[in-house]
Amino acid sequence: MKALVLAGGTGSRLRPFTHSGTKQLLPIANKPVLFYGLESIAEAGISEVGLVVGDYADDIRRAVGDGGSAFGLDVTYIPQNRPLGLAHAVSTARDFLADDDFLVYLGDNYLQDGVRDFIARARIRPAAARLLVTSVPDPSAFGVAEVEETGRVTRVEEKPVHPRSDLALIGVYAFSPAVHEAVGAIRPSARGELEITHAVQWLIDDGQDVLAEETTSVWRDTGSVDDMLEANRHVLDGLSGRLEGKVDPDSAVVGRVRLGEGAVVRGSRITGPVVIGPGSVISNAVIGPYTSIGANCRVHDSSIEASVLLDGADVECAGRIERSFIGRDAVVAAPRFPYAHRLVLGDHSKVQLHP
Ligand code: DAU
Repeated sequence: MKALVLAGGTGSRLRPFTHSGTKQLLPIANKPVLFYGLESIAEAGISEVGLVVGDYADDIRRAVGDGGSAFGLDVTYIPQNRPLGLAHAVSTARDFLADDDFLVYLGDNYLQDGVRDFIARARIRPAAARLLVTSVPDPSAFGVAEVEETGRVTRVEEKPVHPRSDLALIGVYAFSPAVHEAVGAIRPSARGELEITHAVQWLIDDGQDVLAEETTSVWRDTGSVDDMLEANRHVLDGLSGRLEGKVDPDSAVVGRVRLGEGAVVRGSRITGPVVIGPGSVISNAVIGPYTSIGANCRVHDSSIEASVLLDGADVECAGRIERSFIGRDAVVAAPRFPYAHRLVLGDHSKVQLHP
């Protein structure tokens, strides 16, 4: 069995972060979302991975490494010229996939339990398509499946306005090569994409075996900032502490805190779970819980909770910051004079000011 990991697309709901990078490389607990997927694929015993990439192909290649050996994988990069849909990505990878069974893994999905058990069951009981579903409060934001008690899927719909079930499709699918005929037969949806959901419905209509299994694993489609913050909270819940940096005697570190090499904490209180990347300097600050601070950040005279700071972010005299996502090398400062906000914000930025 091969795996096809989809890491193209536009990530419009994650603007402004996706103006300058790709959403699959945004970090959860200081590790790119994509890496959690790649690690779980390796853990499931799949080594041949096709990685579909778009505009940020170079960034992904640099992060994952040429052959994916850091993950114990053999990665082939598959450029998709335009993000024309998940089924389009599958057809773009047709040569790589050949006539093998394959897993499709959406590179922006975080699934705490990984795919090992799912793959094991797919190997024992092959089907034209096997889906992973989970009950959600608002299914209309996802693909939605109607599933019989036996696990047979009778219908799938992409982001229906009136969902007929509460079972959302997780971005993990196992396919037999039968799906290629389905992909070749479908037409673009109203949003102009070749939907994998439509290819699955084609298989159902064709009388082929389409199965679903429900999971209660923590799952996030990390498509928005709130989803990223939620995923960050879940991963930090399982964090083990390790102090590789320096903590001065005027600081208190409570709970599970991971402090990277060369990081410095001075006159501050850190309440875990918190991860602080290498080279970051935290002074006269209160950090945590549920906060991830990237590498080479600086936080001075501020309090930060339930937030994510990407590498190089600089926060000074900012008062209390909560549930925020601060981009690479972004600067947040509130000097005492002049008494005015001065803002230099990228397109689609969002700022909430409390005078
Ligand atoms: O996350 C689960 C949902 O993922 C499912 O419930 C939906 O049925 C499925 O269509 C998909 O919906 P999204 O709208 O969230 O898909 P998105 O456009 O975010 O793309 C998912 C991943 O695939 C993301 O890593 C980008 C990548 N992608 C996307 C497109 C459209 C590609 O590599 N190529 C593409 O052409």
